[in-house]
Amino acid sequence: MPPSEPRQRALGKEIRLAPSVMCADLCNLETAIRELEASGMDLLHFDLMDAHFVPNMPIGLALIEQLRPKTDCAFDIHLMVENNDFFVEAVAKIGVQQIAVHVESATHLDRTLAVIQAHGIKAGAALNPATPLSALDYVLARLDFVLIMTVNPGFAGQKLVPATLRKISECRALLENRGVTLPIEVDGNVSFENIPKMVAAGADILVGGTSSVFHTSGLKSENIQRIEQAIEAGLAGRMV
Ligand code: DX5
Ligand code: ZN
Repeated sequence: MPPSEPRQRALGKEIRLAPSVMCADLCNLETAIRELEASGMDLLHFDLMDAHFVPNMPIGLALIEQLRPKTDCAFDIHLMVENNDFFVEAVAKIGVQQIAVHVESATHLDRTLAVIQAHGIKAGAALNPATPLSALDYVLARLDFVLIMTVNPGFAGQKLVPATLRKISECRALLENRGVTLPIEVDGNVSFENIPKMVAAGADILVGGTSSVFHTSGLKSENIQRIEQAIEAGLAGRMV
């Protein structure tokens, strides 16, 4: 079974890194996953897209199902689909640890989040860059985490939407004002340069894609080392 608690960081803060599987070598995925596990990764981010909610479909249900028995990593599913309830049931059958649904595609968000939690899976609400935080107002009690998209969803390799840095800190403030302690996951252009700003703003789970974990400038282990340094810089930023 996947580790229950994330690795501890400075300040006792729990910062988790979730490599984005769609950015891995999909033709040698089992090897890629083993390499990530060997580097200490314990949470894998899967972008499940239906080519309708977003115009892309990098990975499918069969791939997630085939990977399940091959790793103890926790599976972090990011649904970018129109039929959330169908895909929630499908991945729950496979065996995953957390699922984020986009508020923009959820007809009955409260009910879908409740169904995820009823499966014993952590439920998250994902927000596109333009979507206001007020979309969370009436579902906070149903949430185990918030996923803030720092790029427009659908494709790897994009540039951060600058306003989303403010959105991360405003989300942290909103949760604190409501007396709610929830991890904030950030997804999109989580780069060596952006990580310190994202962590300082309040991000707890970082989805590592082409701009960090899978950056072509270094080996996985070197990239992860650079990420860890960037996280420490961000945590230091929280102290000021
Ligand atoms: C995009 C996905 C991201 C993406 C991140 O919709 O949600 O997980 O893979 O890739 P980079 O880090 O390249 O933005
Ligand atoms: Zn994602």
